[in-house]
Amino acid sequence: MKSCKLEQFRLMMLNKGDGMIHKNRPRLSDGQLKVVDKMKGNSDVKSYLLLGCLHIPHHNKKIFGGILDLMDTHKFDGIILGGDVLDMGALSSYEKNKINKTGITLEDEYFAGNLVLDELEKRLPKNAEKVFMFGNHEDRYYRWLSDVNNSKYGDLIDPIKALGLQNRGYNVYNNYKQDYHKLGSIYVSHGNFYNIHVAKKMLDTWRRNTICFHTHRVQMYREGNFCSYVGGFLGDIESDAFYYMPIAQKQKWGNALMIVNLIGKRHYIDLINCVDNGFTYAGVKYGQ
Ligand SMILES: [Fe+2]
Repeated sequence: MKSCKLEQFRLMMLNKGDGMIHKNRPRLSDGQLKVVDKMKGNSDVKSYLLLGCLHIPHHNKKIFGGILDLMDTHKFDGIILGGDVLDMGALSSYEKNKINKTGITLEDEYFAGNLVLDELEKRLPKNAEKVFMFGNHEDRYYRWLSDVNNSKYGDLIDPIKALGLQNRGYNVYNNYKQDYHKLGSIYVSHGNFYNIHVAKKMLDTWRRNTICFHTHRVQMYREGNFCSYVGGFLGDIESDAFYYMPIAQKQKWGNALMIVNLIGKRHYIDLINCVDNGFTYAGVKYGQ
């Protein structure tokens, strides 16, 4: 990417261009921060931020700006990126043999992905646990590579390499249909079911506590000691990148993020719904 375009692109990806989010950045007062720190210290809370289906560079920039602000005010011990972190639109079968509708190349996607990871990591402690799960969109790379001609490229455009995930210290799961990450007693996966109530389907089939993403819906289902969540998506529903999806389908999508607090053997889950490109947490408004 040309350097003159770089700064403009950076601001666009982070939604810091107009200064609105930045100017109104919410802050906990010093007194509130002391109370939070004291509570965490006393009860040995481990807090994890879970972000699924960002579809960078088609992520919702207003909500993402809010997430950065949330990370400035609340310290997380770890982050789990639950798949479809990148859109990988350039390798989409929908785009094959067509003019690129969004004009965004794979190089642009990797550039934006690195920027987003940089911003998240700036706000995490050095020893934070970091998990990067592939979704069906990152899996486009393996499907692309399975073509005999493409296989000759080797790992030249491998997202793990392009995002420097190993150097960044991420625990990477690259088989979205098989892999899960254990967070306390919760099984976190990207997900691959696509029925109406995936939260119930996950609980019925896994008989475990589960969190997944994939359908872009926001759901929770609880039965006995087990609970199951579908954590929504963090893409921009208005983006041209999702043109292939019928409007009736997109109306079922919802922006959301999740926070999981582990205290001893127990877990406490906040499923945070976004409304009009913003959300609240602990009484503070973030995003738009
Ligand atoms: Fe997705």
